[in-house]
Amino acid sequence: MQRNVLIAGDLHGNATFAQALLQVARRKECARVFVVGDFGAWEHMHSGRRYFDVVNRAAKKAGVTVYFLDGNHDKSSLLHELYDEHPDDEGFLVCRSHLRYAPRGHRWTWAGTSFAAFGGAASTDKAWRLAREARKAAKAETRRRYGSSKRPETAGTLWFPEEEMTDEELDALLEADDSPVDVLLTHDKPRASEPPWNRKDKPECYPNQDRIQRVVRTLRPAVLFHGHLHVRYTDTIASGDGQWTRVEGLACDPEAAQYLEYSTEHSWYVLELPYAEQRLAGTDETEPRSLPA
Ligand SMILES: [Fe+2]
Ligand SMILES: [Fe+2]
Repeated sequence: MQRNVLIAGDLHGNATFAQALLQVARRKECARVFVVGDFGAWEHMHSGRRYFDVVNRAAKKAGVTVYFLDGNHDKSSLLHELYDEHPDDEGFLVCRSHLRYAPRGHRWTWAGTSFAAFGGAASTDKAWRLAREARKAAKAETRRRYGSSKRPETAGTLWFPEEEMTDEELDALLEADDSPVDVLLTHDKPRASEPPWNRKDKPECYPNQDRIQRVVRTLRPAVLFHGHLHVRYTDTIASGDGQWTRVEGLACDPEAAQYLEYSTEHSWYVLELPYAEQRLAGTDETEPRSLPA
């Protein structure tokens, strides 16, 4: 079995790009693709259900299983509602035969390498999304007054109240298991990393970035992959007690790209397993060891 994992940034329901990624996975000998949030879990919409079907069919054909954690633009409450009763042997929720969701705090081991997933982030366009939902609700109300029997749901269709972790949610997850991991997968960035371009450097984003930072300090991963910023960068941050975490921010699908130096190749990373990097215990904090790319 091919052990490598293709870690990928935000797809935003872009089926064409998902199919291109599956071809990259085949070329790079990856039996798994893991998308670090904003995957496009919109099963409350017909188009979202179709997207899941299309990606699943393409994954099956490619002989690849696609995994994802939730971003702020994934309706994770519905994933739990639909799939909590259908975990696979590793505890992922089975959305389709070749499509699996990693809930917040989920841990697993692939080829001797331990992983944890912590989804969620804050939307900076929350007000715009809520205003659009309100406009849709007003239009539906008008149609009803003119005799339409349709009662479309509008709340929770564009902005999802569960989008970021709460402090209580994180407390419970870390209390349940605070043991270290090799690889941490998140949607949001840790507060301390410094990308060259940061469209989320806003006060409303800091609480969740602080939560991810807390996860880093507790689990001390050797490497962390995240999305959400839509920019590719590598940084190294302190995770406490002289240890360091390499942070790999991944870009997104081409349609959501805004960074001038964007390239589609910035959207993925081939993670070879078992993850050979050694923990950096004892390293001088003032001099992060240079890490292989
Ligand atoms: Fe996001
Ligand atoms: Fe995104």
